[in-house]
Amino acid sequence: MRKLVIAIDGPAGAGKSTVAQIVAERLEYTYIDTGAMYRAVTLFVLRKNISVCDVEAVSRLARESEITLAYEKGKTRVYLNGEDVSEAIRMPEVSRMVSHVALIPAVRQAMLKLQRQMAARGGVVMDGRDIGTQVLPNADIKVFLTASIEERAKRRWQELTSKGIAIDLEELKEEIACRDRMDCERETAPLIKAPDAVLIDTTGLSIEGVVQEILKLCEERRKFV
Ligand code: DC
Repeated sequence: MRKLVIAIDGPAGAGKSTVAQIVAERLEYTYIDTGAMYRAVTLFVLRKNISVCDVEAVSRLARESEITLAYEKGKTRVYLNGEDVSEAIRMPEVSRMVSHVALIPAVRQAMLKLQRQMAARGGVVMDGRDIGTQVLPNADIKVFLTASIEERAKRRWQELTSKGIAIDLEELKEEIACRDRMDCERETAPLIKAPDAVLIDTTGLSIEGVVQEILKLCEERRKFV
């Protein structure tokens, strides 16, 4: 049986990575967190003290970045030039800068190439902002996850707090709203729902409920592949 390609898009905090990871586990597929890839490039930019306005230099770094994702003990680990940066890429400085880096076309081009290579053999669940529209337009299943901004901010706050990262909820809400605007309004590959994507509003839904909806879509799709 051919393995499916599943694309999950949506704004920050909609539950994409949690849901995508569980769906991948249940299907024994590979989970690919494309946001982590943009975060890794951003971390590289910050460490090199390069301004995000220096498009040339940032683009060069993106092309030079060797980013690999590995699945270890049930968790995705992110490597940048051989170094495990899984924790470092979640720091608030990276979150604040990542949308600026992600709007540079040459950065997106470099990531798109890597992402398509990762998905080439099928059996993947890839999450991001432009997976169903740009990266994998022929994906078997496309899902667009959303949730209210209040709920998304609360989820991110809980996630960060549990990792010992202190941040104010209101500040987080504003930061997410700002990131939403930048992700939706950028010229290259903006965050939009693909016309053939299934919209799931996760506000008030349990994680398991969303996972089940996606698994049901997979079952339906399997009848035709
Ligand atoms: O999912 P996340 O919050 O880790 O994503 C970090 C940023 O990366 C987000 O602000 C938008 C950007 N991104 C993107 O532009 N395209 C993707 N496919 C994934 C993420």
